[in-house]
Amino acid sequence: DTRAPDRIKPVIGIIGGSGLYDIDGLEDKAWRRVTTPWGDPSDALLEGTLAGVRCVFLPRHGRGHPLSPSHLNYRANIDALKRAGCTDVLSLSAVGSLKEELPPGHFVIVDQFIDRSFAREKSFFGEGCVAHVSVAHPVCPRLGDALEGAARGLGLPVTRGGTYLVMEGPQFSTKAESALYRSWGCSVIGMTNMPEAKLAREAELCYATVAMVTDYDCWHPDHDHVTVEAVVRVLLGNAENARALVKAVVPALGAERGPCSAGCDRALDHAIITAPAQ
Ligand code: ADE
Repeated sequence: DTRAPDRIKPVIGIIGGSGLYDIDGLEDKAWRRVTTPWGDPSDALLEGTLAGVRCVFLPRHGRGHPLSPSHLNYRANIDALKRAGCTDVLSLSAVGSLKEELPPGHFVIVDQFIDRSFAREKSFFGEGCVAHVSVAHPVCPRLGDALEGAARGLGLPVTRGGTYLVMEGPQFSTKAESALYRSWGCSVIGMTNMPEAKLAREAELCYATVAMVTDYDCWHPDHDHVTVEAVVRVLLGNAENARALVKAVVPALGAERGPCSAGCDRALDHAIITAPAQ
């Protein structure tokens, strides 16, 4: 029975970089190793309580950044958060900007993705049990509303809505690729949010992305082409804002609530096509 219970006390999963956990007010912190049938997640989970709300942090690339986007075990990461009791997942990620009006330092609460990743396991379902979930709306609007409200309340430079192009990497894009993605109307480009978002939907977790712009990729005539040095410099400058956003949004999401109004927590209800075992 996959039906969601009537009332739940949310547990907030947060996938992001290492600067994020030094949030003052995060109490009862403990790192806990979790294993899954899909293998090991990127790192141990940091569990704690913020304003009375249980939070679970996962360093996406592992502490010290040993894992490339193609080497992340996306299935283990999402399953570990699910096993830790998470109901909602906030994904914070560095991205390049594909639009003039989204400069470095800007936060974009994206609502769509174009998944151009290819060297990754993308589903919990396969042989034996086949499911086709809808990802027409891959981001939970309730989480998007909460993130937008928290960001605006803090006065952060933020845009609601936008399309995140997920590339395989690890190399950055060619100019022709960057121009192509701009012609598709994409807002930002990154390497990690797919299949993360698809797997969160399969796991019936509410999911939203905060894309933190670090550079103008390689298309902008007046800006240098993206480098790791520039990405890290802007990210470190942004860390304070990212922590403030998490600190503000968690209490807004933590109140006891009913099922997700968008149905994220019931995504499998009509998705499994394999006949039940007789
Ligand atoms: N992450 C940060 N900047 C990026 C870019 N320009 N392309 C892909 N991933 C990124």
